[in-house]
Amino acid sequence: MRAWSLFGALSAASGVTLATADAIEPSNFNVTEGLEQLGVKVSSIPALKSFSGIQARSTDGACAAACGSLKFLFGSQQVNAQNSTLYNNFTNSFWSEQQEEVQPYCVFRPSVNTQVSIAVLLSRLTGCPFAARSGGHAAFSGASSSAGGISIWFKDMNAVKLNADKSVASIEPGNNWLSVYSALEPYGLATIGGRASSIGVGGFVLGGGISYHSNLYGWALDNVQSFEVVTAAGLIVTASETVLPDLYWALRGGGNNFGLVTKYNLYTIPCPTMRGGARIFTENYFSEVINAFINVVNNATVDGKAQQYVAFLQTQGTNIATAELTYVEDVADPEIFQQYRSIPAIADSTSTKTLVEYVEYLESDNPFGYREIYWPIAVQLNEEFSNWVVDLFMSLIPQVIDLAGANPVIIYQGITLPMLKNMTNYGGNALGLDASKGPVHLMHISFWWDDSSDDDTVYEWVYSFWTQVIAKAQDMGIYNEYIYMNYASMFQDPIAGYGEANKERLRKIANVYDPTGVYQTLQPGYFKLNNGSPVTYSL
Ligand SMILES: Cc1cc2nc3c(=O)[nH]c(=O)nc-3n(C[C@H](O)[C@H](O)[C@H](O)COP(=O)(O)OP(=O)(O)OC[C@H]3O[C@@H](n4cnc5c(N)ncnc54)[C@H](O)[C@@H]3O)c2cc1C
Ligand SMILES: *[C@@H]1O[C@H](CO)[C@@H](O)[C@H](O)[C@H]1NC(C)=O
Ligand SMILES: *[C@@H]1O[C@H](CO)[C@@H](O)[C@H](O)[C@H]1NC(C)=O
Ligand SMILES: *[C@@H]1O[C@H](CO)[C@@H](O)[C@H](O)[C@H]1NC(C)=O
Ligand SMILES: *[C@@H]1O[C@H](CO)[C@@H](O)[C@H](O)[C@H]1NC(C)=O
Ligand SMILES: *[C@@H]1O[C@H](CO)[C@@H](O)[C@H](O)[C@H]1NC(C)=O
Repeated sequence: MRAWSLFGALSAASGVTLATADAIEPSNFNVTEGLEQLGVKVSSIPALKSFSGIQARSTDGACAAACGSLKFLFGSQQVNAQNSTLYNNFTNSFWSEQQEEVQPYCVFRPSVNTQVSIAVLLSRLTGCPFAARSGGHAAFSGASSSAGGISIWFKDMNAVKLNADKSVASIEPGNNWLSVYSALEPYGLATIGGRASSIGVGGFVLGGGISYHSNLYGWALDNVQSFEVVTAAGLIVTASETVLPDLYWALRGGGNNFGLVTKYNLYTIPCPTMRGGARIFTENYFSEVINAFINVVNNATVDGKAQQYVAFLQTQGTNIATAELTYVEDVADPEIFQQYRSIPAIADSTSTKTLVEYVEYLESDNPFGYREIYWPIAVQLNEEFSNWVVDLFMSLIPQVIDLAGANPVIIYQGITLPMLKNMTNYGGNALGLDASKGPVHLMHISFWWDDSSDDDTVYEWVYSFWTQVIAKAQDMGIYNEYIYMNYASMFQDPIAGYGEANKERLRKIANVYDPTGVYQTLQPGYFKLNNGSPVTYSL
């Protein structure tokens, strides 16, 4: 009903439908009336009757009212209180331990989009903060769970539906990539999605999304037909290249700043059987591995079926490089990987796999429940520099390798020319990347360890490493300010890395779709438009 009245107020000109700010959220928007239009009779909710301005001044009072209201409306299966089995199931199932430690006031599991609208408006009415979780793979505290607030878990909104001609899959945010690929495989189809099974659709698409198929079609955010979004006023709108194109652009890189996405309508792709696996090399071959890595990045323009990343790490005192080499067709010996195959390997797990088998296989490399940090930077692709960075990384490993459970890894990936060119699809995205300076080299640290008492030691080590690397990249004139949101640490500001013009455009769009800043202040976790990094580095 509300979506209908919105579209009555939209202006359609030359095939593009733009919203007026007033149609999205009038300046006199009344939250109580918004809830009533969604069928919620505010005056009949007991938890709100006893709710007073005095309680509103404490988060606990506000969240007692918000969670109490949700429980009154939807029951304890959908609204889980602290210490309940369902609540513990939520907090125990994040990828990183840092997110598992967060204790929300309640966990809310919406089953349809209007329930998401109601949760956002109850947060506004009471002042209780919220966070939203899809796969829960973001590593740092509070990214997708709200300490003392409402953690919205999309788990039960998990439909995957194909449209009539099977060109678009409509995917709800409770899915991970295993459930998406499993649903589409019987049709011989897939979408641009994650490379490990448990990564959520929700965060992955809004921050970027590097897939096995990205040299053919681009990143996930450049393969979205439309998003269904719950705005700050609880409106349910659909944003595409032609309808609300400003919101559509902003969601392609803008993360959780514009609304809660309740459907990701993604273009489908054909999905033949694949071939790939990890080929592992000892340190004496590192410079040859780096040379092969660079040639494969450059050759993405010649053969888009290949995908690679290379991890450098130490295992049982031995430095190794492990190259994950994937081909999205069952070809035994593709030319593009020949150079890698000419380097002697100590192990090679290459085999023929379906996409479902591939993501299940890769999942085993990324266990749950450790303390974790991901921390990326970007530079222009440069062979000498790539060697220098790995040498520096290996030389610093002894400083941290004896911490309990320490597993520091640096990973090399290319943001290739075909990926960059696809970033102009459908009106472009917010990332601020372009192909003018050639491929971008995405480097990230992935580090897991056991004890919280070592957190600061790890953070300081990574920070100091990147400080040296960035200084050298700046000297060489190859530093790129871009920070990949999906890997970004809490000490980074990916929105600033998109460039001043894109940041300003994102802010202006947020002012239309969320004029009072609900997604900035009531949902404070993860990367915000104005706040800089979630945590200021000062150790
Ligand atoms: C083991 C592992 C493998 C990975 N592999 C890849 C890979 O192959 N390619 C790649 O590009 N990246 C990869 N990543 C990074 C991954 O893309 C990010 O961690 C991403 O944020 C995960 O999304 P999620 O939904 O699981 O995370 P969540 O923690 O659930 O969400 C991340 C952020 O997005 C927000 N969000 C989630 N759903 C919604 C929604 N519906 N509406 C609005 N906001 C929402 C959350 O509130 C949160 O702020 C990997 C990460 C890990 C840990
Ligand atoms: C919002 O609407 C309710 C119900 O109509 C009314 O009681 C309340 O005073 C309004 N609030 C504001 C701030 O106008
Ligand atoms: C949950 O359990 C912990 C530990 O037993 C306890 O300290 C806490 O008060 C409990 N919380 C609630 C809301 O029952
Ligand atoms: C949570 O519940 C699901 C389904 O009931 C179960 O498969 C899973 O193992 C549980 N996870 C945790 C961490 O308790
Ligand atoms: C890839 O790059 C190398 C080195 O530049 C080149 O010799 C090779 O022919 C290229 N083509 C393919 C398809 O791999
Ligand atoms: C994406 O890039 C590839 C490779 O450059 C190109 O063939 C394809 O047409 C692009 N896709 C779109 C939708 O532009």
